[in-house]
Amino acid sequence: MGQITAEIVRKILFNIEYKPKICLETGTRNGSSAKVWAGFFDEVHTIEVRKSAYLKAKKSNSLKNIHFYLGDSSQVLSKLIKRFNHQPVLFYLDAHRKRNQGQYNGFPIWKELDAIKTRDFRDIVVVDDVHAFGRVSGKGWEGLTVETISDYLGDKVKDLKVIDDNCVVWI
Ligand SMILES: C[S@@+](CC[C@H](N)C(=O)[O-])C[C@H]1O[C@@H](n2cnc3c(N)ncnc32)[C@H](O)[C@@H]1O
Repeated sequence: MGQITAEIVRKILFNIEYKPKICLETGTRNGSSAKVWAGFFDEVHTIEVRKSAYLKAKKSNSLKNIHFYLGDSSQVLSKLIKRFNHQPVLFYLDAHRKRNQGQYNGFPIWKELDAIKTRDFRDIVVVDDVHAFGRVSGKGWEGLTVETISDYLGDKVKDLKVIDDNCVVWI
């Protein structure tokens, strides 16, 4: 559950008037989803907080359009998006996990959305793992629902759909 596939990406990009050239992912892990996005976008930028995962994903990658970053997405994303302040971006937010790991913020989604909210482009925000929204208590998930995401983004939301296990927001 939760694994992005080419079929899901096609559904997300189906019938849109414009298509971003940049995909920005949070939560690289082994780079599997970054490779899927790389088939559809000119550039994929992916952020991972665990150094071992970052190094492994980077080493095993041969695609030239994937760029890897080490760090906490709640901080790195806000800096990285300054590079893309002239064009829309598809954000794939997949850094939230069931357990906080102590040394870093394991539930960065609200800060990620704070940074995205500052932009004024026709971005697409894809939040993975709808199946876990609202269900895992005490770890941040209980406050994460399709409605709280929509409320958080407020007037920016043009359309919102759940596509497979992804909450997709067009802003
Ligand atoms: C669900 S996995 C990502 C899976 C990957 N997107 C895929 O589908 O192939 C979540 C990843 O996010 C990372 N992560 C957790 N908190 C993070 C944070 N604050 N910043 C960046 N990465 C984070 C975890 O270390 C883990 O590798």
